[in-house]
Amino acid sequence: PLVPTGQIVGDAARAGRGVGAFNVIQLEHAQALVDGAERAGAPVILQISENAVKYHRALEPIGLATLAVARTASVPVAVHLDHATRPELVREAVALGFGSVMYDASVLPYDENVQATRDVVEHCHAAGVFVEAELGEVGGKDGVHAPGARTDPAEAAAFVEATGIDALAIAVGTSHAMLEKTASLDLDLIAANRKAVPVPLVLHGSSGVPDADLTRAVEAGMTKVNIATSLNQAFTGAVRDYLSANPKVVDTRKYLAPGRDAVAAEVARLLGVLRAA
Ligand code: G3H
Ligand code: ZN
Repeated sequence: PLVPTGQIVGDAARAGRGVGAFNVIQLEHAQALVDGAERAGAPVILQISENAVKYHRALEPIGLATLAVARTASVPVAVHLDHATRPELVREAVALGFGSVMYDASVLPYDENVQATRDVVEHCHAAGVFVEAELGEVGGKDGVHAPGARTDPAEAAAFVEATGIDALAIAVGTSHAMLEKTASLDLDLIAANRKAVPVPLVLHGSSGVPDADLTRAVEAGMTKVNIATSLNQAFTGAVRDYLSANPKVVDTRKYLAPGRDAVAAEVARLLGVLRAA
């Protein structure tokens, strides 16, 4: 069933489990993520980024389809708006029935970031919607996504206190869209932020992290783990193999189905690595 994000993330944080948050681009991703979660017997978060919304030219078509897939699941599934920079898009997600949003105002100076984030939190909390925000280096431009960025625990605690957010993405050594698992995670910094910050922590750019370190990150106190690129590698790899083996095929279902199956298998595997069940 579709459940509130706060329920999945809160339960996992209390139990010391990880939560897989996987990106939906096509409808096939949403189906694959639910298939994988059911196989693993774990809850899951399906997330749609502002960039994916741009690709689809609007949130509603892919958003409503994703919500519909979530409702059919036999495991708890939440739907999340990822990397939103436009407050209007946040309001649209809330109106459609999303359980959470990530709002990123980190391009603004710190005080304006805090104020803009507070406004989003107020609107979302009135609707029971959970809000994630990020803090890299205060004043830094790259937020949590630069490999060299680090989140200071005391600044993180102050940011959470000032904004009222429900989860915080921190910079601990990952960066987005890595094709190889060569990121080096600062596990001590995860533990220090876990101690200082009163809300669940979020890891972005997790495709670049070796499996063993993903498990260690959860053990050190990371809760929501965002993964997109490695699922696209699985999807595209399977499609590429199918098309090379079947050069005459034209029915799009014939080659998208193996992509969907490959993502489901990878999600089931990753949910084990994250101790999500
Ligand atoms: O918000 C989404 C993620 O941070 C995904 O990052 O594509 O590097 O796994 P990734
Ligand atoms: Zn991200």
